[in-house]
Amino acid sequence: MESIPYLTNVESLVYGVDSITLTMEDIVMKKKLQVMFSFMFLGVIGGIAYAGYAGGGGGDNKVAYPEGYRDWYHVKSMVIMPGHPLEDPFQGIHHIYANDKGLEGLKTGNYTKGAVLVFDLLDYEKGGNALQEGERKLIGVMEWDKERFSSTGNWGFEGFAGNSKTERLTKDGGQSCYECHTAQKDNNYVFTQLRD
Ligand code: HEC
Repeated sequence: MESIPYLTNVESLVYGVDSITLTMEDIVMKKKLQVMFSFMFLGVIGGIAYAGYAGGGGGDNKVAYPEGYRDWYHVKSMVIMPGHPLEDPFQGIHHIYANDKGLEGLKTGNYTKGAVLVFDLLDYEKGGNALQEGERKLIGVMEWDKERFSSTGNWGFEGFAGNSKTERLTKDGGQSCYECHTAQKDNNYVFTQLRD
């Protein structure tokens, strides 16, 4: 009886025993099943390959736009004024948000794949002895993934201009963001601390 090595188990499954006497009809049926299972096999391999390619924000080294981050956990806010070392480009009011895994990381110091932190920077407007939120200047995003971002402390860094979800601001794979964040190497490259 002819046999294709990786289909042997499938054959035994289908026929129960290997030593069965086959009629012509059986052989034709068996061939059909072999072809069918081969295609299923290819389908599974293809599916795995595609999932690898499409997974995690595109399968490349791009940080995904943090869709819906305004519904996430608000960690803290800060106003940066002229004269502060981060004035250029971070002058304004910023709010920091964390998704569930990001919050877990802030609490435990253990970040897992898919943890995201967002730095939402708005201009401010002065008036009436108050600072009001103005237009959004940019958002900064940190996405944790050991495999894709191992060269920048396991974090992918990206900026998105204004309200755009596609206009990316980093030209160096986030290297310059990472370099400043290395000041917090002992804290997983994260400046923000949780407060009550
Ligand atoms: C010159 C230093 C510096 C550079 C460059 C820098 N950051 Fe930061 N970043 C900070 C500081 C300081 C904070 C903390 C702000 C606060 O306490 O509110 C911060 C906070 C953040 C946070 C919130 C999580 C955290 O670490 O507190 C994100 C997200 C972030 N930055 C993304 C970026 C991205 C993306 C870039 C590059 C486009 C970038 N940063 C470049 C200094 C820097």
